[in-house]
Amino acid sequence: MDIVHQYWPFLISAAFLSWILLQRYGTPLRKIPGPFHASWTRLPRFIAVASGRPHEWELKLHRKYGRIVRVGPDLVSVGDPAAINIIYNANDKFKKSRFYLPFMVYDEEGMLPDPLVINDKALHTRMKKNAYTAYSMGAMLQLEPLVEKVTERFFALLDKRPTCDLGKWLRFYATDVIFAVTFGEDLGFMEKGDPIGMMPMLEYVVGDYVAIVGTVPWLHKFLLGNRFVARLALGENGLEGAALDLALKQVDKFRQKMAASAGGMDGPCTFVHRLLEHQKKDPESITDRELNTHAFGNITAGADTTAIAMRTIMFNVARHPDIYRALCREIRDEAGLKLPVSYATASALPYLDAVIKEALRIHPPNGVMYCRTVPPEGATICDKFLPGGTEVGISPWVVHYDDELFPDPERFEPERWLAADADLVARRKRSIFAFSAGSHTCLGKNISLMEITKLIASLLVRYDISLEDPDGNMSFKCRWFTPQTGLIVKLKIRDS
Ligand code: HEM
Repeated sequence: MDIVHQYWPFLISAAFLSWILLQRYGTPLRKIPGPFHASWTRLPRFIAVASGRPHEWELKLHRKYGRIVRVGPDLVSVGDPAAINIIYNANDKFKKSRFYLPFMVYDEEGMLPDPLVINDKALHTRMKKNAYTAYSMGAMLQLEPLVEKVTERFFALLDKRPTCDLGKWLRFYATDVIFAVTFGEDLGFMEKGDPIGMMPMLEYVVGDYVAIVGTVPWLHKFLLGNRFVARLALGENGLEGAALDLALKQVDKFRQKMAASAGGMDGPCTFVHRLLEHQKKDPESITDRELNTHAFGNITAGADTTAIAMRTIMFNVARHPDIYRALCREIRDEAGLKLPVSYATASALPYLDAVIKEALRIHPPNGVMYCRTVPPEGATICDKFLPGGTEVGISPWVVHYDDELFPDPERFEPERWLAADADLVARRKRSIFAFSAGSHTCLGKNISLMEITKLIASLLVRYDISLEDPDGNMSFKCRWFTPQTGLIVKLKIRDS
């Protein structure tokens, strides 16, 4: 005992050192290159995400160590576009990892069947199947008149603001659009600001908390995963609970409207209407809880992501006079678009399409790796063996800045998507990872693309747009979402 007393500092240091060496070398992951400190602790990555710069940290590591990097004791970042098909494919062998624990929302029946987080293949397939038609582009196109009504109100508000924070307005706009297409009516975010106090929940819980705590998921049960702490921090039913309540209320309201109309509802068939009709025809195919969860998912996943993409487009178009001129020429002179702009005409414009692709490449709306767990038998990725249970992921920021595929990746260059080399363009398209890939690909992609394409064309039909500070930059934080601030523009109404 005396020896322990005398040498305890030495013993503790020796034990700590042995533990570090075990973490570093006592696993097949020792063969994966990466910084020494990240091989025994997740702290460096936690700090990178908490400080809102994981994209810079990961890119720097990939440029130094190559396409596969050990960024935590049991966490590997992959930067090889060819690995997308291995990790994210339809057979779901690589399950969602513990990173998604903080995304999970519970009601009295347990965890909500949110497609984003469920690992039960049969349930996930059913969830996707029961909403497939409602998310399809065909369904979206029927909703164009609803989007156009929101756009009309948006322009009436912008008309009165020759200089404005367009970034802030785009967020309100995207929120009203997602409510309109989901429930047939919006809550007037554009007119009233944030009438239900939902935006802080989206920003700080869905955007920041999940990404930061997702890097060290065991922490979650001591934070918002603990009912008491969640109540203390977020109020009685938690802020996500508020979004869920809102979804339930809106769905109920719709049900009542449908019942009152005796089957003869006015207007286009909204997302919830389609799901309810589907349920009426085949009650077994979708439960009430699944239906409500889809509506909840639209509220939490649909607005910020789309607003981020629209900000990137407007900033880069306004920032580069040659791109601005080329896009205006296509939209105004060659296609002669008028308001309201239809998706069919706008989506056929190659330069606009290239601008949208380039915006999703240069500034993906999601900022961290979409993490998965290597299946029990292990997997070989970038010629390295990863044992079962390793957490692995690809960040869209890493693949989108691959300088072999996208030379000078920091440059906004829509022309990359119009290059003569068809093979190269096809490889670039396969590497675009903003909407993820495989069985968990974004379900709302069609809604977003329809909304973005129509709005960007409409803005340029309606206004001459310039940055208030032509040399200024937006700033942004990179977490689960990558929201920017500082898109201040001058708008001049055109004779359109
Ligand atoms: C530019 C806009 C958007 C981007 C960049 C985006 C991005 C993503 C990404 C990266 C994922 C998958 C994450 C992973 O693999 O773990 C995802 C999933 C999902 N997104 Fe989106 N999203 C966008 C818009 C929307 C919209 C408008 C909606 C709903 C209306 C939506 C609903 C969903 C849903 C339900 C999932 C879960 C799908 C599944 O796991 O099966 N998203 N999104």
